[in-house]
Amino acid sequence: MTYHLIEEFKLDQETKQQIADLVQICFPDTKYQGRTYFKQLPHYRFLAKENEKIIAQLGLDYRMMALDGQPLRIMGIIDLVVSPQHQGKGLGTKLLKELDNFLKPYAENIDFLFLVADKHKFYENCGYKLVKQKVQWLAMSEHKNYGLQIGEFNDCLMIKQIGQISWTERTALDMLGYWY
Ligand SMILES: CC(C)(COP(=O)(O)OP(=O)(O)OC[C@H]1O[C@@H](n2cnc3c(N)ncnc32)[C@H](O)[C@@H]1OP(=O)(O)O)[C@@H](O)C(=O)NCCC(=O)NCCS
Repeated sequence: MTYHLIEEFKLDQETKQQIADLVQICFPDTKYQGRTYFKQLPHYRFLAKENEKIIAQLGLDYRMMALDGQPLRIMGIIDLVVSPQHQGKGLGTKLLKELDNFLKPYAENIDFLFLVADKHKFYENCGYKLVKQKVQWLAMSEHKNYGLQIGEFNDCLMIKQIGQISWTERTALDMLGYWY
């Protein structure tokens, strides 16, 4: 098994096809329409390959978000998937651990890892924590903006502290962009 961190704009056609197939198989209820992404391109891909075939992947969105007015450097994890034949064997956990290793040398540039999920136990096993926030974000669907949205969430936002700053729960989180 090999792990690869690649800039999105460098992906070749074969890799994009494999990613598009994998996300659609793993999220059958989401209409990816043949794309590698649901709403917006991520900045990076983190891939696990076996014999040149992608068997697990995630997208990374690196941006500033503001928590209670404080700007934070957030590395967002999007569309983590493990191919159905490989699920339940520890590969998803390994992918997140390998991601930690890849990002470790750059920890001074990342305050938090962040993701939106319903599989809390899986992520909690990997050191992520469920947080409750009031969130402001830009609604987007099929390449069209629908303006700012505000909502309160207590069962889907998960974070992992990387830098020295502590996360304050029950405050306002401005995603400064779209909700992945
Ligand atoms: C969720 C997913 C990424 C987990 O990867 P995986 O390789 O199957 O998971 P692992 O084998 O590393 O499992 C680690 C732990 O997470 C738990 N877990 C795995 N899949 C889970 C799920 N679907 N729901 C809840 N918990 C889950 C396991 O019970 C395991 O805990 P245990 O060791 O205490 O039993 C993978 O199953 C997948 O791609 N699912 C479809 C797409 C998806 O839902 N992606 C996540 C979006 S939030």
